[in-house]
Amino acid sequence: MNTALVYSFNTIKTARVAEHIKSYWGDDLTIINAEEANGRQLASFDNLICGVPTWFDGEIPNYWDEMVPEIEAEDWSGKNVAVFGLGDQVNYPENFVDGIGLLADIFENCGAAIKGFTPINHSDFENSRAIREDQFCGLALDLENYPGEANGQMEAWVKQLKEEFGTK
Ligand SMILES: Cc1cc2nc3c(=O)[nH]c(=O)nc-3n(C[C@H](O)[C@H](O)[C@H](O)COP(=O)(O)O)c2cc1C
Repeated sequence: MNTALVYSFNTIKTARVAEHIKSYWGDDLTIINAEEANGRQLASFDNLICGVPTWFDGEIPNYWDEMVPEIEAEDWSGKNVAVFGLGDQVNYPENFVDGIGLLADIFENCGAAIKGFTPINHSDFENSRAIREDQFCGLALDLENYPGEANGQMEAWVKQLKEEFGTK
């Protein structure tokens, strides 16, 4: 089983979170810059952990958007994908961490299993495309409004993923 952590090296907070996830995970993790990645490369892993900030009222960044045709060209059956995302539920209450849901949908529609669902701890927002059956379909982090919770959330999520990926 091999696992990759994929995020844009040009982000600020997403990259900071990725560093924490990496340190909680340990050595057995390949780090990939999403801005230089391609779908075939990502599909060569059994497990992916993908980072996505939400920008511009509920959109995923261009580097993910541009990779969609390449992702769709690969066979994702039997693969696990987990998504972590950053957002701001007070200033963007209609689109809180939409990017998590959008990215999860893309991989799920291609046959991947989405792992790492987490509970909704706060409800300052109105809508989120990341919600599936009363949970977030990934790790939703709000560093703007709840920065003190992030470390605990990340550590618990890594433990959860190791179990759900079967890499423990
Ligand atoms: C112009 C702009 C648009 C944003 N749009 C959203 C949004 O639609 N939904 C959301 O949850 N957060 C939104 N955010 C908040 C960012 O996702 C949040 O600040 C995140 O931590 C940024 O991560 P980064 O530093 O890795 O880019 C927006 C921020 C900015 C500056």
